[in-house]
Amino acid sequence: MPHFLGLDLGTSACKAVILQEDGAVLGAGSAEYPVIQPQPTWAEQDPTCWWDGACRAIRQALSAATVDGAAIGAVGLTGQMHGAVTLDGSHWVVRPAIIWSDQRSAPQAEHLERTIGMERVVSLVANPPLPNFTATKLLWIAENEPELFARIRHVVLPKDYIRLRLTGTLATDVSDASGTLCFDVVRRQWSQQACAQFAIPLEWWPEVSESPVVTAWVSPTAAEQTGLRAGTPVVGGAGDQAASAVGSGIVRSGLVSVTIGTSGVVFAATDQVIRDPQGRLHTFCHAVPGQWHVMGVTQSAGGSLAWWRSAIAPEDVPYDAFLASAASVPPGADGLVFLPYLMGERTPHTDPYARGVFFGLTPMHTRGHMTRAVLEGVSQSMRDCLELILDLGCPVQEVRMTGGGARSALWCQIQADIFARPIHVLRGAEGPASGAAILAAVGAGAFADVTEAASVLVERGAQTRPEPDAVAAYIEQGETYRALYQALKPLFAMAHARQH
Ligand code: XUL
Repeated sequence: MPHFLGLDLGTSACKAVILQEDGAVLGAGSAEYPVIQPQPTWAEQDPTCWWDGACRAIRQALSAATVDGAAIGAVGLTGQMHGAVTLDGSHWVVRPAIIWSDQRSAPQAEHLERTIGMERVVSLVANPPLPNFTATKLLWIAENEPELFARIRHVVLPKDYIRLRLTGTLATDVSDASGTLCFDVVRRQWSQQACAQFAIPLEWWPEVSESPVVTAWVSPTAAEQTGLRAGTPVVGGAGDQAASAVGSGIVRSGLVSVTIGTSGVVFAATDQVIRDPQGRLHTFCHAVPGQWHVMGVTQSAGGSLAWWRSAIAPEDVPYDAFLASAASVPPGADGLVFLPYLMGERTPHTDPYARGVFFGLTPMHTRGHMTRAVLEGVSQSMRDCLELILDLGCPVQEVRMTGGGARSALWCQIQADIFARPIHVLRGAEGPASGAAILAAVGAGAFADVTEAASVLVERGAQTRPEPDAVAAYIEQGETYRALYQALKPLFAMAHARQH
């Protein structure tokens, strides 16, 4: 019986998971790499470090599963979305990848909004012009590094750089392509009109396929580097959010996931294209053929907690121990409120100039209060995303929580209390890498389609129920949380103008 490998090119590490046909994880591997931050809200990575990480993670997973490459029936790729990986005519990297969280192209995004208009951009590509998306990053390179821009012949997304190294083929899938701002999300193909309007050559973009479709095969060179078998099929795969949704069984309308990784995402599967005319939510193709999804994104979710831990605790303190002091603090953190806008924000405020804030500090507040306020602030931001999804009329029948945040029982309880809804907590094999492995299994013909595969391979998880007293405390906190951004918005813009 073949196994399936899912590879997730995350922001901080590459993770490989080998799944059996019954959904059990046979082995996993992981390899870290750095994010380079030349300026406070810039973020770049060296694609060759990604490839090194991918090779190490795959080898580790094979060895943990005690199988060799011949046991792998197909590979699925997923990873951080939106990053601009620029390649020359010989497929060499032109400059370090400008990744999803980088905000430097805010002026280019504002220019598109001013000159083309939000409505027109949303009608072309179902999404707003944001500095996070690939096209605005390319426009920044055009304006600021024209000699490098002139060398670009191909642009791929981060996971698709791994596909290139693994197979020699340039290709992507519909879900990841949706986050470029150059993709016609309704027709599931590159948008000639958007490319022309943004002055980005259409021919730079690779072939695009549906997520479970085989796009290429592992090359003999890559087989030597990774331990995989030459000729192993590689499916289209998906952006990390769509893959994570597949791994969590979010494969039909009514199911919603909350994923707390570096970013935080509330994701709803939909059976038609639902757009937010104001562009506060993203509307992308789902990894399930014939489906779409809407999602709201909090730029710094787990990222806020990682920052806070590294700011005040010795590096080797595990998260469990670090979060223990927050558990004894009452819901609402005795009036302390945190805004998680460390890297600007996308949902509900498309504001690259927003910044992180602790509000309401008094001498009675302890480190535990501050830690709890960070968790609560991130979960309030996820609530903002859920509200917008409900406002657009998407049905929300069941919410599932996944990602690093779901490993903390405390954070799951806070999320259920702030949502005032029960939450199914998935702590098993879910996550983008498992979702990618499920797509590989479908591509290899082990299942009829993604919905069938998810129903066999994904377990629903235990339920965390909201506690009424906490729900009331968070409604009150939410009022301050939401008023704070409105009060500070002009100050964020002023602070940005002063620094530039
Ligand atoms: C999704 C997004 C992030 C990145 C990194 O729009 O920007 O989820 O994909 O995880």
